[in-house]
Order: sequence, then structure tokens, then C-alpha cells
Amino acid sequence: MLRAKYLNKITEVNKMFIEKIIENGDVVVDATMGNGYDTIYLANLVGETGKVYAFDVQEEAIKSTTKKVQRDGFTDFVSLILDGHQNMDKYINEEVACVMFNLGYLPRAKHHIITKPDTTLEAIEKALKLLKPNGVISIAMYTGHEGGMEERNYVCDFLNNLDQNYYNVLHTNFTNQVNNPPELILVEKKGDFNSLDKYI
Ligand SMILES: C[S@@+](CC[C@H](N)C(=O)[O-])C[C@H]1O[C@@H](n2cnc3c(N)ncnc32)[C@H](O)[C@@H]1O
Repeated sequence: MLRAKYLNKITEVNKMFIEKIIENGDVVVDATMGNGYDTIYLANLVGETGKVYAFDVQEEAIKSTTKKVQRDGFTDFVSLILDGHQNMDKYINEEVACVMFNLGYLPRAKHHIITKPDTTLEAIEKALKLLKPNGVISIAMYTGHEGGMEERNYVCDFLNNLDQNYYNVLHTNFTNQVNNPPELILVEKKGDFNSLDKYI
């Protein structure tokens, strides 16, 4: 079977954008920790002068990610939080450069524990508030499982109507793939370039 190298997994496509955006020292959020692959990825990007907050509702996610965080010596700047991402504002009192969502269920874990439309949307709204100017939210969405399409439509309805004066929303998908290919949405909070001189 032939394999794509660049446009293969939606999470890899996401990284092409994320790596242009996140800098050493940034504060970022992994809204769906799972097995911690994204948490570790983000920790490597921000480094020890940055900060990663990661959320999941499953204790297994915390356990498996804790091992990886300890293995890589990231415990000082990575916070693993056993709570829903819809409560992120209870734990984060600073502006963030990026919030990453990888929706759906954790492969090989309990498939009934999936992200849900209401809480996902609440989390996205909170993430938009926490974003610093020119900060970005990325959302990888899967529609093949039960409830996945409903969640995707719910998220899209909300984001498609965000005021373009304040946000740019980019939606990418594999247009020639069968069987519910994953989709990626990126949202940038616009910055105020007229006030840039204030910072110089
Ligand atoms: C597709 S998996 C994430 C995979 C993960 N990024 C990784 O690198 O392994 C989705 C995760 O979202 C979690 N989840 C479900 N509802 C949640 C909520 N309200 N808040 C935070 N995480 C949630 C699930 O427990 C699951 O681990």
C-alpha cells in the first residue's frame, strides 16, 4: 500500500502549523491528555521556561502521562489535571499561546469515555478567553464513532459564526477520503497591531 509522508494523519498536519506558532517559553494547554503524546510534544516545544497544563477525565490518562513526564524530566513545568477541560479556567490564571484539542475517545481505552458536544463547546469558549492575542486553538475532530458527527457539527456551527474582526477560523479536511476522515480546525485570536509600538 502506498503511504503519504506529510498529509497522512491529521495530528501530523496539525504539527506543521503548531510548530510555526509555539515558541520556547510559551504557556500552552493540552485539553485532551489521553496517553500524553501531545502533552510531551508540547512540553518539548515550550521547554522548561514554558508551562503545559494538560486535562483529562480518566485516571488512566493521568497515570500513563505521569510516567512519560517523569521519564523526560518535565515534572517542573507540566501540570497534569484530573478534571474536564470545561473547567480549565479554574486552574489557569494566565494568558496562553495555544490550546490543543484532540476530540473523541482514547484508542485502546474505554470507548464510552468520549468528548461530548456541550463540554467541548464550553471548553472552547473558555479557551478563546484564555488565549493571548495571536494565540491559537487547534481542534482535531473525528466523526466515525457514535456522537462524533454531532460533536463536529456543534463545534463547527459555533466556530463558523465567530466574529471575523476578532478571530480567524481555518477548517481543513481530506476531501478525497472515504470513511469519515478526520478534520482539523485552527482558530487564531487576532492581535492589535496598532498598539505594537507600546511594546517596543
Ligand atoms: C482522542 S483522545 C486524546 C489523545 C491524546 N491527545 C494523546 O496524545 O494520546 C481524547 C481524550 O479526551 C478525554 N476526554 C473526554 N472528555 C473530556 C473532558 N471533558 N475533558 C478533558 N478530557 C476529556 C478522553 O478521556 C480521552 O483520553
